Amino acid sequence: MKIFTVVGARPQFIKAAPLSRAIRQRHDEFLVHTGQHYDDAMSAVFFRQLGIPAPDVNLGVGSGHHGAQTAAMLQGIEALLLQEKPDCLLVYGDTNSTLAGALAAAKLHIPIAHVEAGLRSYNRAMPEEINRVLTDHLSALLFCPTNVAVANLAQEGITDGVIMCGDIMVDAVLQNVARARQKSAILQQLGLTPKTYLAATIHRPANTDDAQALQAIIDAFAAAPLPVIFAAHPRTQKALAQHGIQPHGDARLIEPLGYLDMLALVENAAALITDSGGLQKEAYILKTPCVTVRTETEWVETINSGWNRLAEAQTDAILRAIAEALTPPPVEHPDFYGDGHAAARMLAALEVLG
Ligand code: UD1
Repeated sequence: MKIFTVVGARPQFIKAAPLSRAIRQRHDEFLVHTGQHYDDAMSAVFFRQLGIPAPDVNLGVGSGHHGAQTAAMLQGIEALLLQEKPDCLLVYGDTNSTLAGALAAAKLHIPIAHVEAGLRSYNRAMPEEINRVLTDHLSALLFCPTNVAVANLAQEGITDGVIMCGDIMVDAVLQNVARARQKSAILQQLGLTPKTYLAATIHRPANTDDAQALQAIIDAFAAAPLPVIFAAHPRTQKALAQHGIQPHGDARLIEPLGYLDMLALVENAAALITDSGGLQKEAYILKTPCVTVRTETEWVETINSGWNRLAEAQTDAILRAIAEALTPPPVEHPDFYGDGHAAARMLAALEVLG
């Protein structure tokens, strides 16, 4: 089989690593990087650490408004699909790169497989929600990470091609956590001891583009009961500069981390504060309590089990949530996200399709 994979943004490199490895043992993979993320710390470091083969093509699309960014990807991917004539197209998650790949393939009648299908926030103000709804409705194979995702698709009338595989991020964590424990020196580099700090990331437009929201988050970091290590996405660093906001108090801004350092930082944190989708789940897998600075989440299991809680972008709300996250975590830690063999199930389904 010839599988045409599209990746472009940081979380997709992590999700692609286990499946790409499995695919290449038996089939051809043509790997396209859209170039949505391009800084070394947002892209190349993941290819190096996770042993992902170099992309066959990097479209070098870079940043831009959603329309322009998605259009440039669509045009580049279409030309490559016509040239490569793959048996199927594989996309991950909910970014503009995901939607561009799916749209290009759908118009050329190339079957689409979507990893992380069926997630919903039911908030159409998020670009990711639009990307995932559209991609799901175009896909022939819908690889769901959870039973909630399967049920979400059924509500939209999608049952054909829906496969509950478990979450591929569990594959990635299990394949790398031992290496992270051995190799990462991030705690020493930052002078940290386990469970005496909070780890943080913030990058969603709702939190970065609104000066008041971003100020409230930074003020919460400053007033938190433990020092905050804030690994800031380039989008967030730009927004801080634009709005003239500076981290203060015991909060420390650092550059985005590679995968192994991030796993080590999160595993050893007393709690995580984030608006990332992937990190909420990684925190759960690593048994670190989480505060999610959003009004809703796709990973409802983390909330219902008591390991995660939502906080609006208001200083008091975030501080209350941090205090709750620092109380002893629940005893129960159900295996919502599967056994770390999602990639093998996905490959088996792709082979039936081919
Ligand atoms: C994208 C995804 C989001 C995902 C996130 C992970 C969409 C709509 N959103 O958001 O779902 O959670 O990736 O990080 O696709 N930038 C750099 N260097 C880089 C990459 C980005 O400086 O390597 C800056 C750019 O100036 C850009 C901004 O970050 O303006 C945002 O990049 P963008 O491609 O819009 O997506 P993310 O915010 O990263």
